[in-house]
Order: sequence, then structure tokens, then C-alpha cells
Amino acid sequence: MAQQASGTVAVIRLCNPPVNALSLTVLQALEDGLRRAEADPSVKAAVICGENGQFSAGADIREFSSPRRQGLALGPVVSLIESSRKPVVAAIEGFALGGGLEVALGCHYRIAHVKARMGLPEVTIGLLPAAEGTQRLPRLIGVPAALEMITTGRHIPAAEALKLGLIDEAVEENTVEAAIDLAKKVIGQPLGPRRLSQKPVPKLPNMEAFLSDALVKLKKQARGCLAPELCFQAVRACTQQPFAAGVRRERELFGVLLGSGQAQALQYLFFAERAMHRWATATGASWQRAAPQPVRTAAVIGLGTMGRGIVTSLVKARIPVVALEQDGECLSAGRRAVMALLEREAAKTEQGAPALDFRGPGRLRFAVDLAALADVDVVIEAVFEDMQLKKEIFRKLSKVCKPGALLCTNTSALSIDEIASATSRPQQVLGTHFFSPAHVMRLVEIIYGWHTAPSAIATAVQLAKTLHKVGVVVGNCFGFVGNRMMFPYLQQAVFLLEEGSRAEAVDQVLEDFGFKIGPFRMSDLAGLDVGWRSRKGQGLTGASLPAGTPPRQRQGRRYSPLPDLLCEQGRFGQKAGRGWYLYERAGGRVARPDPWLHSFLCHYRDAHGIRPRAIGPEEILERCLLALINEGFAILAEGIAAGPEHLDVIYTNGYGWPRHRGGPMFYASTLGLPHVLAQLQKYSEAHPDSPELRPSAWLQRLVAMGSPPLQEWMSCLGQHGSKL
Ligand code: COA
Ligand code: NAD
Repeated sequence: MAQQASGTVAVIRLCNPPVNALSLTVLQALEDGLRRAEADPSVKAAVICGENGQFSAGADIREFSSPRRQGLALGPVVSLIESSRKPVVAAIEGFALGGGLEVALGCHYRIAHVKARMGLPEVTIGLLPAAEGTQRLPRLIGVPAALEMITTGRHIPAAEALKLGLIDEAVEENTVEAAIDLAKKVIGQPLGPRRLSQKPVPKLPNMEAFLSDALVKLKKQARGCLAPELCFQAVRACTQQPFAAGVRRERELFGVLLGSGQAQALQYLFFAERAMHRWATATGASWQRAAPQPVRTAAVIGLGTMGRGIVTSLVKARIPVVALEQDGECLSAGRRAVMALLEREAAKTEQGAPALDFRGPGRLRFAVDLAALADVDVVIEAVFEDMQLKKEIFRKLSKVCKPGALLCTNTSALSIDEIASATSRPQQVLGTHFFSPAHVMRLVEIIYGWHTAPSAIATAVQLAKTLHKVGVVVGNCFGFVGNRMMFPYLQQAVFLLEEGSRAEAVDQVLEDFGFKIGPFRMSDLAGLDVGWRSRKGQGLTGASLPAGTPPRQRQGRRYSPLPDLLCEQGRFGQKAGRGWYLYERAGGRVARPDPWLHSFLCHYRDAHGIRPRAIGPEEILERCLLALINEGFAILAEGIAAGPEHLDVIYTNGYGWPRHRGGPMFYASTLGLPHVLAQLQKYSEAHPDSPELRPSAWLQRLVAMGSPPLQEWMSCLGQHGSKL
């Protein structure tokens, strides 16, 4: 904290790099600074600003679990600012988030740089703004706008803040000087009208109706997450009670959230996501120390579902792109789709932000000839999931592209090493597994092969960051991390159907758990034919099956042909208008239970001598989730991922796992490893032909070691890995 005087104005500077988080030390210094300014007769006004062009990103999240935090709270410091007899002006540059914005709300005036962003993102870490922000913000900008900001945690740009009345002025430069000038101008003016705690909450003609509608919407979106609803309750308090009582309610609700497992889960994910680029790979590859290669230009091959989204992401990140298709007809279709996506993205550009210029010279070129890729720094291949086709393309790329170019594949499951073997530069080949829709989904699995160079991995990690995505580095195996863990989950869902469940019952249980979409709805959305083609390729179904293979067994383990039988009937999911559900038309989105499926399942069970049984929600949930988690333990033991946090970041960013449950491995740790083990043993005994339910050796070892906390799992593996 630095304090200096500028004439009659004291400048109090928040200083705690990199984001000026309001640690206990910073809070104490802020309080001291305010008291000094108040006591010094030569000081007539104060400006609060942040060091290094950042106002403050709010409370220090690491301190929430510290008992010391209880000692000095931010709320009283904000009250102290507001009650100052001298005007206090906030000079906001960079971010004013959470407690940072609450400090600014305590100030009598607020000036922000045009590029500044403001928000109350506590909800995203399972909390609510607890320094009186839920009571002051609605008084300043009205209940609807405040409710939206507080329950979503959205960061708003200065232009929007100005429109809402959150700030008094937006300036293009010299924010602190502008704040000092304003402070000088308002010396001696009455402060009462500037104290938000004394302002009435702006009335709405239909406040009660507005609030009950908002609550219904909120509950639907929250899917079991507590924080949005408690944020809502805190804001509602300001419409029902005076300021002081509202503040008491805010503190009470904050206490409930702080002690909840959900806040811990969300804060764990906050740090896990930020640490992704730092952690070592389990194999010890030293990519963190390697320098990334610059990516000035890129190319995407294949403009289907994935390619068009990847092109859009690159263009949005202002990387010039060459987009390539196999022939003129596919190119025209791809071009139309890409342009439509970019138009839509350009329309979303925030007020005050630079326009998305994708028509300028060299920004985006379309081609059918691989020779157009000779000079690009990175190529991302997104053609059909066909090993021979991919190898052929990589063979050509290794001839055409400049020697340093990175060659990436967007394959969902195929071996990176086999693809790399088609090139003369396997050290430059890796997987960049984007998720659909690629311009929206934040996850990219970055898969290194046996020969991939550390600098190639570092480049892909840097590229993911440039695209505003979370890149998670993982090893090479069939399905990598995300899809490999998904297979047993989906398999259990289908087995449950065989045994007597209904698709809608299974989906409901997993959606109640918090998944955005249950396994059957998800399969319909992704297209059942995708997995079918892959299983045919693996010889699990179709003509290539060895004679005499039992119908419900493959390679000595339980196998359900149900998804294959649906595909044989053309039931490919949403795209065909029918799959596990019935849709209003091909491409329709509204899933309805299909009586056809019900009678089909009855015949199927009869034909295979299966007596259907009633299966409760607990078994549905446990079998699906524990099979997925069990695979996660196997993946970690094999060194495919560097830690459980990697798996959790993958699942919460790419597979719709509810964030407030922290990810599958965090969830396992909250269930308790002995419980996970016991349940897997129980289900495995009941279904000995389902190896995915057989507890992984490492899970057993961890339990034998006394179930250490998740943060210690990998060091335990280090001690015992060789014995597994
Ligand atoms: N408390 C503690 N550490 C914080 C923090 C906070 N409120 N906000 C950011 N950090 C740390 C990050 O963990 C990261 O640390 P690392 O370098 O050791 O990984 C570092 O500050 C930089 O943050 P990062 O998110 O990587 O930078 P960015 O420029 O991409 O984003 C912010 C900056 C401020 C937008 C982002 O960090 C953020 O959203 N912070 C949290 C805001 C929040 O929720 N505040 C309410 C707290 S109750
Ligand atoms: P898609 O069928 O929608 O598109 C593939 C495109 O590649 C088509 O437009 C086709 O014309 C083009 N293509 C084929 N051969 C080509 C060639 N020789 N040169 C140039 N273009 C060629 O497929 P998709 O769903 O976008 O999948 C692409 C890749 O991404 C696959 O490897 C897939 O496994 C993977 N993937 C898909 C998803 C998904 O949800 N669809 C998710 C993650 C990864």
C-alpha cells in the first residue's frame, strides 16, 4: 500500500501484485490510510486506486479458509470509506472485481478507464459479495441490473458500467489524474447523497412479480448450485429491509456459503484451472521450461462441425487463418458456415471493444490446395475420424509445411504416435482436442506423443491461452482422458437400460446430480453413428466380428449391442429425428420419450432372457459415476495425466460435470475413498463381467495408505507407482 498526497488529495494505492487482491495485510493498510487521511487537516479528499494499472481483483481467495480472515473483514472498511467526512473517489483501471468493486461502491465517486472491467464474481467461487455489495449495488443501479451482475458474476466493461450509472465517468487516459481533479472539484460538496447506504432502492412497479420470475429462472439455471440462489436472497433483502438489516442478512447467507462444500469445490477449480499451464506432466516432460514458438499464422483442415468452430476461435484471437477443404463444393459450404459464425460473433462485440475484423486482407483465406499451407506456423487437422485419411494428410503436410510448423490433430481418440509416424517430424506433432462447439467450449486437451518436443507442447499450451481456452496437457492413449473416462460411464448407462431402467430415468438422475445433459440425451446430440463407426473400426460390431461371438460379450467382457441396433435402424439421434428419444423432426432439439424404444427394449430383454428389475436412482448414479471415476484412477496410475486436478478441469470444462461438485476426482475425495472402493467392490461382485467396475489397483492402494487428501495422491503414486 502506498499513500501520497497530491496537493490536498491523498492518493491511496492498493498494492499486492499481480492483481492487488485484498489480503488481510492490504485491508489493514487501507484502513490505516483512510484513518490518516481523515485525521490530516491538510488532506481535503482522497483517491483510491491500484498499483500497476489494476484496481483490485477482490478478496484474496486463498485466505477464505484461514481462521485469521475472521479478524478483519472488508465490510467495515467499506463503511469506513463511505462514512468519511472527506470525499473519496475510486480511480478504476484494469479490474475492479468482488471486494475491489465493493471498495469502489463505498467511495463517493467512481471514475474508470474505458478498458476497465467491473463485476461481483463471488458467485463463481460459491460465495456472495459480503462487504455490503448486495445492498449497495441495487441502490446504485437498480435491482434488475444488480441481480444480474451478482447472480452471474459477469464482468462488465466500462461503457456498460457508465450506462448503468455504476461509474460517474469513463476516461481514455490518466485515470488517477482525472480522479484527483474530480476529488478537488467536489471538496466541500455534501456527501450524504453520494453515500449509497443512505439511498433508497429504486422502485419497480412490479418488484414482487419480477423477483419471483427471476427466482424461477435462476433455479433452473443453477442446477443444484447454492450460491446463485443465496445471492438472490441477499439482493431480495434490500427490497424488504433497511440497509443495516440487509447487511446482517448478507453476512448470514455468506456464512452458509462459506461453510459449504460447494464453495470449496469452486475455489479448488479456480486455482486448478490457473495452474494447468504450470504443472509437470507425469512423464517428467520439461515443457514448462521450453520456450513456445510464436504462432503468427495458422491453418485448419476440414471445415465440418469442428473445423468451422476452430477457425472462428483463431480469427477471434486475431490470428490469420488459412481454411482448407477437400474440394470446391465442401469449401463453399465450409466458407458459408464459417462466415455465418463470424458474423454472429462480430455482432456480440462489446460496446467500446475493437470490432472483429475478419474481412481484412490476410485475415482469413480459403483454399483447397495443401500448398497454401507452406508458410503457416500451426496446422490443425479436423477431417473425418479415419486413421488412414489422417495419416495421408500428415504425410503430405510434412512435405508441404515449413520445417518448424506445428502439426496438430483434432482426433477424439486415435493414436497421436501412429499419426505422427506418417511424418518426418514426429517431434512437431501433437493432439489438440477441441470440444464442440469449438468457438464456445473452453477446453482443449493437448496430447503429446512419444516423440513430441517440449517446445511443441509449450506452443500448444500458449496457443490455447491465446484462444482464451484452458489447455490441459495429457498423454496418449485411446480416448485420451476425457473420452476414455466417458466410455465406462456411457457403458453403464446402457447396461442399466438392458437391466430394466428407462433412458429418461437415467438422464434425470444425472441431470439432478447437476450434469447439463444426461448420457442418452448427450449421445443423441453428438450422434450415435459416431461411436458406431468407431466400434466398427475396432471390430466390436458388424461383419468383422469373429464367428461364434456371444451377442452380449466382446473380448471376454460384457458388451451391449443396443446402440449398434439403434444405428442399424437409422436412429442416429437428433440429426435423424430419433435415437434414444424421439424429436419433432430431423435436427429437432426437443426430446420426447419414444414408446417404440420401450417395446423394442421389452423384446430385446425377452430375446436375451433378461428379467427387468426396478433400479433406484442411487444405483443409477453410483454405477455411472463410479465407473467414470474408477477409470480416472487408472489414468492417473498410468501417468496419462499429471494429477487429479487435470481430470477435474477436463470434466468441468468439456463434459458438463457440475462445477459446484469440483470434478469427478474431487467428488470422489468428498465421498471418501473407502466409500468409493466399497461401492465399486459391491457393484463389481454383482457384475463380474464389467471390468470397468473392478476397483483400480491404485484406488485400493490409496485406501490402504489411509486415504490421503487429493493433493497428496500423486506423491503417493511416486512412492508406490512401481508396485502397481
Ligand atoms: N485471490 C487470490 N489470488 C488471485 C485472485 C484472488 N482474488 N485473483 C487472481 N489471483 C491470482 C491467480 O491465482 C493467478 O495466480 P498464479 O499466477 O499464481 O496462477 C494470478 O492471480 C493471476 O490471475 P489470472 O487469473 O491468471 O490472470 P488473468 O489476467 O487471466 O485474470 C482476473 C485476472 C482478475 C480476471 C482473474 O484472476 C479473476 O477472475 N480473479 C478472481 C476474481 C474474483 O473472483 N474475485 C472475488 C474474490 S471473493
Ligand atoms: P465432420 O464430418 O463434421 O467434418 C469433417 C470435414 O473434413 C468435412 O467437412 C470434410 O469435407 C472434411 N474433409 C474430409 N477429408 C478432407 C481432406 N482430405 N481435406 C480437407 N478436408 C477434408 O467432422 P467433425 O465432427 O468436425 O470431426 C472432425 C474431427 O474432430 C474428427 O477427428 C472427430 O473425431 C473430431 N472431434 C469431433 C467432435 C464432435 O463433436 N463432432 C468433437 C471433438 C473432436
